[in-house]
Amino acid sequence: MIDIEKCHITHYPAKVLLQASKPVEEIDDNIHQLVDKMIDIMIENKGIGLAAPQVGVGLRLFIISLDGTRELTKVYVNPTVTSTGGLETLEEGCLSVPGISTKIRRYTKCEVKAVDLDGNEFGEEAEGLLARALQHEYDHIEGFTIVNRMGQTAKIVNRKQLKKLKEEHEA
Ligand code: CO
Repeated sequence: MIDIEKCHITHYPAKVLLQASKPVEEIDDNIHQLVDKMIDIMIENKGIGLAAPQVGVGLRLFIISLDGTRELTKVYVNPTVTSTGGLETLEEGCLSVPGISTKIRRYTKCEVKAVDLDGNEFGEEAEGLLARALQHEYDHIEGFTIVNRMGQTAKIVNRKQLKKLKEEHEA
């Protein structure tokens, strides 16, 4: 049972962000409540996607809303994302890595298979911003953040902020 009231944004290097999440076993009321809370948190923070570990829950579930609205929010439970196409480098940020915006190389296309909140399997082919968001959120449930994807130069450029996040975590 997840205590929804206790869900709040987790920041790098919180442990829940650094380890692979576990599959959702049953899409019950508690999972529906979690998704509602995640949508609230995503909108509050002006995000376009949010993964369960980012609210402290180590489950394989994420949401994406490319225009940042509740209406267009899509829920992906137990997803698999397979990347295809070429590589493209674009600026990215993450609500769990505040204060850092950095160039991340990702595939231009991907395929996602997942289950929706009604328990129905679905598949999508994505490109552009959706493909990038899917890869970013999938990284979260695999235990990766943009910090893992940053090159050496970006790590050096952002070293002060990374140090600050580590110190805040230890405090
Ligand atoms: Co993120």
